[in-house]
Amino acid sequence: MKLNIALLPGDGIGPEVTAQAVKVLNAIATEFDHIFNFKRGLVGGAAIKKTGSPLPDETIKIAKEADAILFGAIGERKYDLDPNAKIRPEQGLLGIRKLLDLYGNIRPIIAYDDLLNKSSLKKRQIKDTNFVIYRELTSGIYFGDKTLSEDGNTASDICKYSRFEIERVAHMAFKAAQSRKRKLTLVDKANVLESSRLWRRVVQELAPKYPNVKVEYLYIDNATMQLIINPRQFDVILTENMFGDILSEEASVIVGSIGLLASASIGDKHAMFEPIHGAYTKAINKGIANPIASILSAAMLLDHFGLDDEAALVRKGVDKSIKLQITTPDLNTKYDNISTSKVGDFIEDFINNPEETNLN
Ligand code: IPM
Repeated sequence: MKLNIALLPGDGIGPEVTAQAVKVLNAIATEFDHIFNFKRGLVGGAAIKKTGSPLPDETIKIAKEADAILFGAIGERKYDLDPNAKIRPEQGLLGIRKLLDLYGNIRPIIAYDDLLNKSSLKKRQIKDTNFVIYRELTSGIYFGDKTLSEDGNTASDICKYSRFEIERVAHMAFKAAQSRKRKLTLVDKANVLESSRLWRRVVQELAPKYPNVKVEYLYIDNATMQLIINPRQFDVILTENMFGDILSEEASVIVGSIGLLASASIGDKHAMFEPIHGAYTKAINKGIANPIASILSAAMLLDHFGLDDEAALVRKGVDKSIKLQITTPDLNTKYDNISTSKVGDFIEDFINNPEETNLN
């Protein structure tokens, strides 16, 4: 298969981790006779520095023309500390999501047996956790009208959803549930928010179309607690944009490191693959950034094109690196010198030679 992949490394540790994902995809291309062409674009703080815009036209063009996008990370500390900044790196990421209509964000949360002791939660609570969050990604409070009064003392962000926006991501989530454990949990705040009541109504109306899927409803406040107390109860969580952002970050506590969590952002015409972690600017060029989230995002890219054996091999490589503790310091206790690129090299070697790869 020939794929043109837009490579948008972005800020912070984005370039380091995506370099490992590219390494892994190149190994897959060689092993399985595919052609993966990468075209690089600037986004976020890196793009502001060079062009003044967090999402230059050239990047939009590259992203639109590609079969898929591999995204790194976004954000810079100086903007985090400046609430008055009019242009912000995050506008690059949000802009791509919106322009390419990437409405369904899929975030799998799987607890590795070998990492149960890395979580601050009890092993028996988290063992066998395997659920996926379907987060609506192009609407809600992130994209509703924003206002700031002239005197700067009053501000608002509108959380607005249309039936259409809810339906399309809900269908995605229901379908996913059908091919998993057939349970869907809608997380909302329908006891307070009108937009949440629309979510509930729409999901209740769609449910009969998926009679083999059990539907449950949870308020976001309860969901944040349930996720910690009993994460095994979940199969597919469906939720709006901001609740999904918060829940998925919380879920990283279960797996032991946010550096493990990958995501796919899917629309009808485009697809983007990105780790859920941020730019982690403190770690830039120290070789300590965990590339596994980016590598697993590349595996989700392979899934998207039906390259199942290829994706499975990448995941096996990740499993082996975790098993042998060839991982960065966020996870590692056995070795103290495993860098970002060493993890990438290991998984690359594994793909080239799955039977023989060990720590060398
Ligand atoms: C994420 C991130 C982004 C979000 C930020 C960087 C804008 O936290 O992908 O989860 O809030 O969606």
